[in-house]
Amino acid sequence: MDAIEAILNRRSVRNFKEMPVPAEELHTILKCGLYAPSGKNCQYSRFIVLQDRTVLKELNQIVCEALSEIEADPGTPIGFGAARARERKGYPYFDRVPALIIAVSMRNYATSMANSACALMNMQIAAEALGLSSCWRNQLRWLKDMPEIRAFLVRYGMREDEDVFGSLQIGYSAEKQDVPRAPRKPGRIVFDDGQEWKE
Ligand SMILES: Cc1cc2nc3c(=O)[nH]c(=O)nc-3n(C[C@H](O)[C@H](O)[C@H](O)COP(=O)(O)O)c2cc1C
Repeated sequence: MDAIEAILNRRSVRNFKEMPVPAEELHTILKCGLYAPSGKNCQYSRFIVLQDRTVLKELNQIVCEALSEIEADPGTPIGFGAARARERKGYPYFDRVPALIIAVSMRNYATSMANSACALMNMQIAAEALGLSSCWRNQLRWLKDMPEIRAFLVRYGMREDEDVFGSLQIGYSAEKQDVPRAPRKPGRIVFDDGQEWKE
């Protein structure tokens, strides 16, 4: 698939078929993450890949418990997530995901978030180009300082001087793509001659 087509067609998908991500496709997607740009070419972003259902179920349980303990304004993404975790015990954040890629990087490095986002985005586009679907999942970032979350991530390869910066769920879509894309908000592109951008 053409790169422009993959970028413009990509949609966030949250429900997946019960099929694993083929090893070759997963390998290509991860390679695209490794080849993302990074500040000063530091290449500090690393990726923890979870596919084992038992491991994903355990993570889901830890996330549900940790999220439900958070008190935050329900108008904010984290507050909304916390309220939902309290209302719907065992909310399926991660346990039905065919593959979860967790981006970790040096905690105090200035470009860690930007580098991780570049890598996650490269992988979203690569997944789309390969006929797979994905969605960024931010719960682990919100919960990054919770000891249970850190202990889990360290068990699966995060280093003590690293934090989690985001995660990506990947699989074959089980969703109908019949919801039209939200129109792009106006005023987001400004040209130096004052012209307006039109689609
Ligand atoms: C930084 C970031 C965090 C996100 N966090 C979540 C999340 O925790 N859960 C989720 O379902 N979607 C999450 N998303 C996906 C957005 O909801 C999605 O990109 C947006 O609704 C636009 O839809 P589209 O990706 O189909 O264009 C996140 C996206 C980004 C870029």
